[in-house]
Amino acid sequence: MKALTWHGKHDIRCESVPDPQIEEGRDAIIKVTACAICGSDLHLYNGIMPDMHSGDIMGHETMGEVVEVGKDNKKLKVGDRVVVPFTISCGECFFCKRGFFSGCERSNPDPSKAKKLWGGSPAGLFGYTHLLGGYSGGQAEYLRVPYADVGPIKVPEGLTDEQVLFLSDIFPTGYMAADFCNIQPGDTIAIWGCGPVGQMAIKSAFILGAERVIAIDTVPERLALAERSGAITLDYMDKDIYDRIMELTNGRGADACIDAVGTESDPSASWDARLDRIKVATFMGTDRPHVLRQAIHCCRNFGTVSIVGVYGGFLDKIPMGSAINRGLTFKMAQTPVQHYLPILMDRIQNGEIDPSFIITHTGSLEDGPDLYKTFLEKKDGCIKVVLKP
Ligand SMILES: NC(=O)c1ccc[n+]([C@@H]2O[C@H](COP(=O)([O-])OP(=O)(O)OC[C@H]3O[C@@H](n4cnc5c(N)ncnc54)[C@H](O)[C@@H]3O)[C@@H](O)[C@H]2O)c1
Ligand SMILES: [Zn+2]
Ligand SMILES: [Zn+2]
Repeated sequence: MKALTWHGKHDIRCESVPDPQIEEGRDAIIKVTACAICGSDLHLYNGIMPDMHSGDIMGHETMGEVVEVGKDNKKLKVGDRVVVPFTISCGECFFCKRGFFSGCERSNPDPSKAKKLWGGSPAGLFGYTHLLGGYSGGQAEYLRVPYADVGPIKVPEGLTDEQVLFLSDIFPTGYMAADFCNIQPGDTIAIWGCGPVGQMAIKSAFILGAERVIAIDTVPERLALAERSGAITLDYMDKDIYDRIMELTNGRGADACIDAVGTESDPSASWDARLDRIKVATFMGTDRPHVLRQAIHCCRNFGTVSIVGVYGGFLDKIPMGSAINRGLTFKMAQTPVQHYLPILMDRIQNGEIDPSFIITHTGSLEDGPDLYKTFLEKKDGCIKVVLKP
């Protein structure tokens, strides 16, 4: 089959690779009808996540048609149309039973490296390093889905691939980001990053009752899309974000702040962002947490900082003094996608949201390498890429 494979920094290739096979009784094989490129894939593309191997198949936002099921899989049958969560979860362990699917303690076959780095291992993920299981991803013609009787959700009649594909990751992630904020009537939610995740967080914050959303980025078409969703937008290159948020909230700060940027925050945003870049480049630091610092400062006393942008290691100069003295709550996670799927499928079905609004580019797997570049460089108005194998 054809698949997009990783070969180092900025080197994604569309290659022929062996077809996946059923390996365990609960597996299924999916013929991929649509898959997407995620902001998290850019961390791999930029070579900043450890333990990718040459030839690894990329992709963790995938849907398609079931073409084969293992002998113990009682849930799926050939012909089912499903969306596959990016988190691989057994459904039976301590964490899965509590709904913390992205903490599954069985799906990473070699948790030792993650334990060394983080003290414990989260779930295995599709196409996301050997630290997190070394599973082949879904930017391919076919995908092997382990524990396929837990993860995939069947798609009801009448919904297009474009409407449901983002249930695999960015819609639940944006929704979780807003859900973490415990939104009350009258609340103002500030969201850093108007990429695909930020856009989903904006819509979700309004669905969950926010009165105002302040959305921060610098890319004009991303700010424009945020505005179309009803957000007040701020360009971090021409305004002091802290001052503007204080002005908008009578000097108090936002009720909750969402970091939908993570470790690759723009180094030109401020002096501390530039310093982060230098530290990472000279191996004096692991991450660039400028946005997290700013989100903490802009949050009101006893507010919530919700972190869904991904960080990898040990973050420098986080203003914990501000957080502790002002009683902030921190919430963060790789999304336990399965936990949110049923609610969000309902919200799509009853017309509350059509997540396809963020798609700007569609192509074939062969177009994949070029579209990675377009997405990274935010060229040609690119906000979200969907590939149709
Ligand atoms: N927690 C999860 O489960 C999960 C799931 C999916 C994605 N993610 C993470 O979410 C983050 C966003 O993903 P995406 O797909 O939207 O990626 P993206 O790269 O398309 O979007 C990031 C946006 O942040 C903006 N940005 C950069 N610096 C900024 C700053 N200083 N202030 C405000 N905005 C700034 C960029 O212009 C860009 O529009 C990534 O870190 C990704 O890894 C997490
Ligand atoms: Zn993702
Ligand atoms: Zn589990």
